[in-house]
Amino acid sequence: MTTTVRTRVAIIGAGPAGLLLSHLLDEAGIASVVIDQRSRDEIESTIRAGILEQGTVELLDTLGAHSRARTVGHRHDGIELRFEGEGHRIDFAASVGRAVWLYPQHEVLKDLVAARLAAGQDLRFGVTAEGIADAETSRPRVIARDADGQPFEIEAEFVVGSDGSRSIARATVSGSSQGGFFREYPFAWFGILCEAPPSADELIYSNSPDGFALVSQRSDTVQRMYFQCDPDTDTAAFSEEQLWEELQKRVPGTTLKQGPIFQRDVLRFRSFVAHELRRGRVALVGDAAHTVPPTGAKGMNLAIADVRLLADALRRLLLEGDERGLDAYPEKALRRIWKAQHFSWWMTSLLHVAPDATAFDRRRQVGELRTVVESEHGRAFLAEAYCGWPFTD
Ligand code: PHB
Repeated sequence: MTTTVRTRVAIIGAGPAGLLLSHLLDEAGIASVVIDQRSRDEIESTIRAGILEQGTVELLDTLGAHSRARTVGHRHDGIELRFEGEGHRIDFAASVGRAVWLYPQHEVLKDLVAARLAAGQDLRFGVTAEGIADAETSRPRVIARDADGQPFEIEAEFVVGSDGSRSIARATVSGSSQGGFFREYPFAWFGILCEAPPSADELIYSNSPDGFALVSQRSDTVQRMYFQCDPDTDTAAFSEEQLWEELQKRVPGTTLKQGPIFQRDVLRFRSFVAHELRRGRVALVGDAAHTVPPTGAKGMNLAIADVRLLADALRRLLLEGDERGLDAYPEKALRRIWKAQHFSWWMTSLLHVAPDATAFDRRRQVGELRTVVESEHGRAFLAEAYCGWPFTD
């Protein structure tokens, strides 16, 4: 027996993109059903990046008291770029009059889940999408299995794939689950979470002869740090002492405040953009549509930017019967996506030491870093991209 539910928009994936989309649609009076194969607990505890652009925070403000980005998160008015043992502050406030907020993605998710449930959203965990049928008709369907393995279908007027980098919706939209523009990198990040006070007031992005390190934060008592490593690194290969040694030697000039390391992971670097973002009545947003390396902290912010455009397109389609917003969605979204692709690639190549880097490459890289930090325009270029380009729509 297949259970079928009917709604206006079926949303596959309860990450930041899917949940925020359901909120924006609800604000416009458009009902949706959100499914995710993970449990609520898994969704709320997945450790991801932690920087929100100002525009992202402003959009989350529409959740009212449910958004704790401004109360629990911390505003950051700059970052430090460190190279050749010296720190150079990029002052966001002075350069572009904007800021970012340090507020971990899993906290954003807790806020979004709480807000959606309080609003009566039909949000189902443990439901696995298996495919999409009738994508090119006005009644597309999501074929799924519920938490008990029973067949489950959502019949809608539109389907959104906000189902992450292993998207099942992508095959329907792009013709294949792999189809896209793609780049890999010869390094990864070894990430740790530790119990310690912050080592610095702001994030430090450090380029050193031993490779890149990022000193980030989570709270007054928990810190997040990364160092460049080989993509095949085994997280168990280092003792805690060795991890501190690796981190410390990449951040000369700052004595890192150490404490027990309670989580370690290796983040692989990929750049990816799907060949297509929309087919008929199905569209992709967020990681289903694109992946960026983590260096510029653009991943979640870009997902939210897609959602902002798609929500508007769906309002026009479903409230006014006007398809033009939807027709324009891929091109509009791709403009920002490729800017963010460039920025993430550029921050990555600016700061990391490629395994095959020559003495020329190293000196050229320092020249590039100086070009940025010693110029008002260079600093403004970085600050504008990091804080998020203004929305022009
Ligand atoms: C993080 O805190 O996880 C983080 C911060 C900044 C980045 C990437 C990751 O550029």
